[in-house]
Amino acid sequence: MRRMKRPVKRPSAPEQLHLHFHLKDFPGFSAKDLLGLERYYRSQLKGHQAPEKRVGWNSAQSQRVRFEALASVGPLKGAQVLDIGCGLGGFWGYLKGKRLKADYTGVDLFPNVIREARKLYPEARFEARRLLSRPFRSGRFDYALLSGVFNVKVKDNWRYMRAVLSSALRQSRKAAAFNVLNAEAGIREKDRFTAHSKELVAFGKSLGVSRVHLMDHYHHLDLTLFLYK
Ligand SMILES: C[S@@+](CC[C@H](N)C(=O)[O-])C[C@H]1O[C@@H](n2cnc3c(N)ncnc32)[C@H](O)[C@@H]1O
Repeated sequence: MRRMKRPVKRPSAPEQLHLHFHLKDFPGFSAKDLLGLERYYRSQLKGHQAPEKRVGWNSAQSQRVRFEALASVGPLKGAQVLDIGCGLGGFWGYLKGKRLKADYTGVDLFPNVIREARKLYPEARFEARRLLSRPFRSGRFDYALLSGVFNVKVKDNWRYMRAVLSSALRQSRKAAAFNVLNAEAGIREKDRFTAHSKELVAFGKSLGVSRVHLMDHYHHLDLTLFLYK
């Protein structure tokens, strides 16, 4: 009797896309959100030439004003700075342009993004790393900065932000600072996460820091929150 050949079980395309990630490292995400995040950044990287567009910004100017806001967190000269969600290392480029010699480390989820960052800035320190499962030691940095990391809408962005920012605060001695899209700016895209300034400040205070400072008016779409330990 001929034996029936068992069909080879191949992972479906979505499963293949998940090879690098586990949902447990993404509190507040559904499996669909995780897939969406990977797809979004993959398509940005492939579909554009300009570094700022390849990581999702509309223009170099809008990327830069966000860096400027974040850089006002404290004196960065000689400071140990962790750039979480560094993308192509734009913040390092910004510091370099300002001749601000910080001890910089950039981390991003995606190894292909980190490869490209290293090509652009071979002198800087970049690493593909998921900080929730593999954090740096407590107080390893002075400041942790995050630009654009929370812009993609997921099931529970507040939960994700709480997890990532608590981790960022543990790894820094002085402060963490991050930006989000401003809910009062009339952003129409449904796949974007936006926040109101009041809820952002209340959220910041709930993270157990000693001082919270909100910055707005530097860009009509954006808010930056500083969390001082
Ligand atoms: C909008 S891009 C901005 C990149 C860079 N900060 C800049 O302003 O040029 C956001 C980046 O955050 C990364 N990202 C998102 N969630 C992350 C996380 N939990 N940890 C590290 N990187 C993350 C994405 O891969 C993406 O490269």
